[in-house]
Amino acid sequence: MDYATQLVQPFSGDAAERQRRVERRLAASAVLAEPFRRLGYDCSEAWAWENYRGAVLALAQARRASRPRQGDAVRMLEIGGGRGPLLRPAEAAAAGIAVTINDIDARELSLGPKEFDKAEFDIAGEPPPALLGRFDVIVSRMVMEHVADARKAWANMAALLAPGGVALAFHPTLYAPPFVINRIFPERLTAAILRFFFPNRHDGDYPKFPARYDLCVSNPAKVEPVLKACGFSEVLIAPIWGHGYFRHIPLLRELDAMLQRLAEARDWRWLSTYAFTLARR
Ligand SMILES: C[S@@+](CC[C@H](N)C(=O)[O-])C[C@H]1O[C@@H](n2cnc3c(N)ncnc32)[C@H](O)[C@@H]1O
Repeated sequence: MDYATQLVQPFSGDAAERQRRVERRLAASAVLAEPFRRLGYDCSEAWAWENYRGAVLALAQARRASRPRQGDAVRMLEIGGGRGPLLRPAEAAAAGIAVTINDIDARELSLGPKEFDKAEFDIAGEPPPALLGRFDVIVSRMVMEHVADARKAWANMAALLAPGGVALAFHPTLYAPPFVINRIFPERLTAAILRFFFPNRHDGDYPKFPARYDLCVSNPAKVEPVLKACGFSEVLIAPIWGHGYFRHIPLLRELDAMLQRLAEARDWRWLSTYAFTLARR
């Protein structure tokens, strides 16, 4: 799926000051921040797309090291993994990860690799009781914005995790302009615009799923209390700025990139474009 921007702009300002901002953003949890420090998290969109896989593998590794029976496979559930889960079967086997792919959509799930376990359910619905407490790591990419009831989804993730397990969701955030447009305009219009600028986003290839953005923000003051009430003990939100949605529209593209750089420098969470939301049970 073509998510990555081709308009990567370096953030502005003094490098030491930028590093201090990054450190402040990671200060909420040393454990959850560890992979981000190791992978050189810099709050940019390019970093996010390039390092999602590395962050998931690092969390799985850390989880293995902290378990009493360290030789066992790490049990990972990918929410909304559908036809394109993060890892290929051979990669998962090599990393010692037993993958279960979840999706709400039976067709998407049927297109995923046969080697993985599959679990068809709505993450904001009623998960199969047999799966409760079964997973060490739960991950998702570009799924949480489609979920109708984010609080219920996070509570389900807490229930699906074993004690000490970690959930990571990589999702878009409000009020980044492209996602505000996506939310306020009718689905038929935004789907047509998306198809015009990004022709591979259509049914038969990757469909455009309706987006709701419930709890898709990067402000810890809004998210952390909800996740703690869902049963998580530690929460870390790594905000991301920058996006590629205006890359075919001269002038708007440059103005928006300028605004994004300012937002990063000022830590304007309401203008972040994506976030990695992490929570430890
Ligand atoms: C935009 S696609 C992302 C697919 C993949 N994670 C990726 O990054 O390429 C969203 C996926 O989430 C699934 N999905 C949407 N709502 C869901 C829910 N409530 N529970 C589980 N899966 C859901 C969709 O069926 C679809 O496969």
